[in-house]
Amino acid sequence: MRATLLFALPVLLASCVATDERTYERSDEQSYERPAGQALYVSFDERVDELLARMTVEEKIGQMTQPDQEFLEDVDHVREYMVGSLLSGGGSDPPTNSFEDWRALYEKYQSKALETRLAIPLLYGVDAVHGHSNVLGAVVFPHNIGLGATRNAELVEEISRITAKEIKATGINWDFSPCVAVPRDDRWGRTYEGFAEEPMLVAELGAAAVRGLQGEDLGDPNRVVACAKHLVGDGGTVIDSGVTLPDGSRYPFDRGDVPLTEEELRRIHLEGYVTAVAAGVGTIMPSYSSWNGVKCSGSRRLLTEIVKDELGFEGFLISDFKAIDELPGDYKSDIQTSINAGMDMVMVPDRYALFFDTLAELVEEGAIPMARIDDAVRRILRVKFAAGLFDDDWSPTADRSLEPSFGSAEHRAVARQAVRESLVLLKNEGALPLAKDARRLHVVGPGADDIGMQSGGWTVDWQGKMGAITEGTTILEAIRKAVSEGTEVTHSEDGTGAEGADVVVVVVGERPYAEMHGDDLELKLDDEDRAVVANAAASGVPVVTLLISGRPLIVDAALEASDSFAAVWLPGTEADGIADVLFGDYAPTGKLSFSWPRSAEQHPINVGDEDYDPLFAFGYGLSW
Ligand code: BGC
Ligand code: BGC
Repeated sequence: MRATLLFALPVLLASCVATDERTYERSDEQSYERPAGQALYVSFDERVDELLARMTVEEKIGQMTQPDQEFLEDVDHVREYMVGSLLSGGGSDPPTNSFEDWRALYEKYQSKALETRLAIPLLYGVDAVHGHSNVLGAVVFPHNIGLGATRNAELVEEISRITAKEIKATGINWDFSPCVAVPRDDRWGRTYEGFAEEPMLVAELGAAAVRGLQGEDLGDPNRVVACAKHLVGDGGTVIDSGVTLPDGSRYPFDRGDVPLTEEELRRIHLEGYVTAVAAGVGTIMPSYSSWNGVKCSGSRRLLTEIVKDELGFEGFLISDFKAIDELPGDYKSDIQTSINAGMDMVMVPDRYALFFDTLAELVEEGAIPMARIDDAVRRILRVKFAAGLFDDDWSPTADRSLEPSFGSAEHRAVARQAVRESLVLLKNEGALPLAKDARRLHVVGPGADDIGMQSGGWTVDWQGKMGAITEGTTILEAIRKAVSEGTEVTHSEDGTGAEGADVVVVVVGERPYAEMHGDDLELKLDDEDRAVVANAAASGVPVVTLLISGRPLIVDAALEASDSFAAVWLPGTEADGIADVLFGDYAPTGKLSFSWPRSAEQHPINVGDEDYDPLFAFGYGLSW
């Protein structure tokens, strides 16, 4: 029996943040309701405590341990260490990366967990941050920056519902999503994982994503546990505070420091957690980054006082990948600091045996109170109960009836809508919309026919990859499908050959990247891309440029050389949505969720700044 308590948290919101009439507006007050049927996690506490009372200290520590499956020395370690959870990190795939292999991987580990004395099922976590995008053939949605430009919370909820269903088709029950970062400096390599530079838009779309992933009732077999990340201020790190890897590579922003007063931190970076908690999010991931020099993963102020005590978060905190290792001190003190600060489960992800033994030692020595361990495990078990893992009809195998919907045409249609609504038209001197019955359209550039480039990072591979990496429709293919029978569509990589065509469509932009590797101080088109634009423009044919990117770039010459120019962000696998707009079947509706600077020197630039003077303001977007 699931409790049906309705929990409403009224959240006061500032009225209108932006400066021009096209910008994002909010009502003065809005209340975020916990979905009906979404139990307060504490309502499971009677059953949780009954189980907890039967657990040994080792079994409790096992629940708090999360190895990455790729580092398991032996499948039987799932049983021997009684682990509560496993993850597949960005590169942690089964042999062929196929749907069947993913399902088999999940089922192999889940059956091992059931061999433990108490047979407590696993939560298995993945980064399905724009669809179940590690798996070949999944529908890949636009990254969050594109969804921010849609301003469409209902659509974000629907996308998340579909993502949950595709995840569940492989059996997996936990998604490290949504990212509710508020990226304040686009030079940060994870900017595209955030919906917007403006907190209220992030808060609205983040809550929609939680509702879509978890549903009305987390026990719904088509839903997964969500994870709001990365708490808090991941998007607020300042230049030159970032991480240096053991091999000497330096990243100026990623995992850096956020020097803000608590009031500023709350105003800019905390809102996404307020609404995610109110929407019933089951888990939250503390950030690699620091707040005023203190790593979030070790901050009792953030983890316990603000999130658990003040926001009333009843689920559990999962550390980021090896994040506690970055705390000052040795590994033993890392564990002690983090768990005592309020961390409930640790994404170890490799030295799980050492973690297990060291945590046991710390408990034995009294350095971590038993009450803290019980609180952590109680929270983990609450989420497992709420997710239906102890229900009579729960099965350790994936539901076969979900397989036909995986990557289905129906799911792809929703992605197409998202692509269409995310496109932001920045300039149009008459070249758009295109005529379907033009004599010849010439389509050029490295992004014209490349699923990998249009999908970006966190697709099949951790950092993403160029090329035909998964199923989908490229921009060139979408244009070919859209035109009339008599229309010729020609293509070149380097931009040459447009002479005599009616229009040349140029597709340039960023090559795939993800965390750390995406930090970039210049944010400009590379030489190859600039040559493509120049070649196309030299033909004298009208130029339509589509920019694939995870953030605004400095595109002066390309913008100048183009008759029409649109930002398509990282649209994912369904480029038909771009053709929908290019050919005028739909008018463009996307609005910038980030300010577009005039030069890289303007960074950081955000709506609400004093002397705000962007090239295109937050909220900008043309239509016809
Ligand atoms: C990232 C997280 C991700 C985790 C697991 C970390 O490096 O910061 O966003 O969920 O890895 O792959
Ligand atoms: C990422 C993982 C990835 C790993 C690769 C981590 O920082 O979060 O998802 O698999 O690095 O080394």
